[in-house]
Amino acid sequence: MALWGGRFSSAIDEALFSLSRSIEFDWRLAPYDLRASKAHLDGLVRAELVLSSDAKKIAQALRELDAEIDKGVFLPSPDDEDVHSALERGLTEKLGLLGSALRAGRSRNDQVATDLRLFALDHMIEVAHLIVNLQEALLVQAKNYADAPAPGFTHLQHAQPVVFGHELAKHAHALHRDIDRIKDWLTRTSMSPLGAGALGGSSLGVDPVTSAQALGFTDVIANSIDAVSDRDFVVEALFICAMVGSHLSRMGEEWCLWSSTEFGWAIVDDAFATGSSIMPQKKNPDIAELARGKAGRLIGNLTSVLAMLKGLPFAYNRDLQEDKEPLFDSLDTLCLVLPAFTGMVATTKFNKEVMAKSAPTGFSLATEIADYLVRVHVPFAQAHEAAGKCVQMCEKSNVQLHELTDEQFAAAHPFLKADVRKLLTVEAALGSRSTIGGTAPSSVLSQISSLSIKITKNRSWISDKSAAFSAMMSQ
Ligand code: ARG
Repeated sequence: MALWGGRFSSAIDEALFSLSRSIEFDWRLAPYDLRASKAHLDGLVRAELVLSSDAKKIAQALRELDAEIDKGVFLPSPDDEDVHSALERGLTEKLGLLGSALRAGRSRNDQVATDLRLFALDHMIEVAHLIVNLQEALLVQAKNYADAPAPGFTHLQHAQPVVFGHELAKHAHALHRDIDRIKDWLTRTSMSPLGAGALGGSSLGVDPVTSAQALGFTDVIANSIDAVSDRDFVVEALFICAMVGSHLSRMGEEWCLWSSTEFGWAIVDDAFATGSSIMPQKKNPDIAELARGKAGRLIGNLTSVLAMLKGLPFAYNRDLQEDKEPLFDSLDTLCLVLPAFTGMVATTKFNKEVMAKSAPTGFSLATEIADYLVRVHVPFAQAHEAAGKCVQMCEKSNVQLHELTDEQFAAAHPFLKADVRKLLTVEAALGSRSTIGGTAPSSVLSQISSLSIKITKNRSWISDKSAAFSAMMSQ
């Protein structure tokens, strides 16, 4: 159903209509559009523009449409341009001309901006919930391996031993920043564009503040032109999704490496791995790979909306219709990837023996020698040089650092005494790194427990927000 036509002498061309239609993808905004319509209806009644007897009929029709959409009884038709026109058709089918009453004092421009904000708020809260589930799975595993030695890498080369729980927990810490971003985004996004009309506000006296309150927004966007133009909230949401995607991708890459035959550290559970159609022995970490791959589309969605917005004049331009599919796709992608990834993390078993055996290899304890010398006040450049000499001697005589003779240590540096050997064990190296954030088991456990407290708080923040949103939607 067309929402315009008076000044046109011909129907629109089929090609234009096909290009213009957004109903295939914006139909999912229907529940939010209906809720915003109810808020607008209340505003029209308060402004005495709709009689309360008519308002009752309109409110009833809105409720019916909601239920019919839920049941799949009311569906978009091929003639509907977008979700807004489809729902107005639904209302007029029920109420005749009274069905168009809601168009007074608002425009699809403030309507679509409102609907999309509500949609984004709802789904970002869901994403936050899924992230917290993943953080918890990571921390449960991190605790299990909080004293399991493993090689730590820089440049993907053995660097220093770490406990494996430290490696697992680091991902939960990275995800914590994503939750912080969502909270911050939510505060900024919780501003209502409803009442901005086409761009200049409305002459009809409908109060935007009351509508904003009814929809759970904290405030009204201060400038009505900005209100219909602003898609920063879409870009920011897409950035957060891309950042989460990048975190999942980096995690996925580690899972792929760890589960390779060469590493042999991780055994992905059968329920979270796939096989090969030709090689019967294969067990592939597809979840990790798909997470890594999907980061590409999440980044693409962000850049597509940024590029669409660049240079766009303010107020509504039809280009803005291109904001929806990328946003929907990024949110859908995360809602698909996160639960699978969480399942994989929760069920993966790690081989402590293999990791422990590998921890001291590659002369990963060489830093202990340099640190020993620093403790007896040798300047670090000399200490580093001496430790390097020790590695060279080991390579020549094919021994490990602790197997060097007293003479060899002394040759590397006169201050290097036999008691350095006490430091040349993985346990000693790990235990000595007990600073905040360090890899000593005690330090890792305290990192895990302070993050757990934050996660618990975030979980209750998320459930409060989600309950408030559902309550608002069902009013
Ligand atoms: N389908 C449009 C969109 O998604 C709704 C707004 C249309 N407004 C307009 N003035 N043509 O952006």
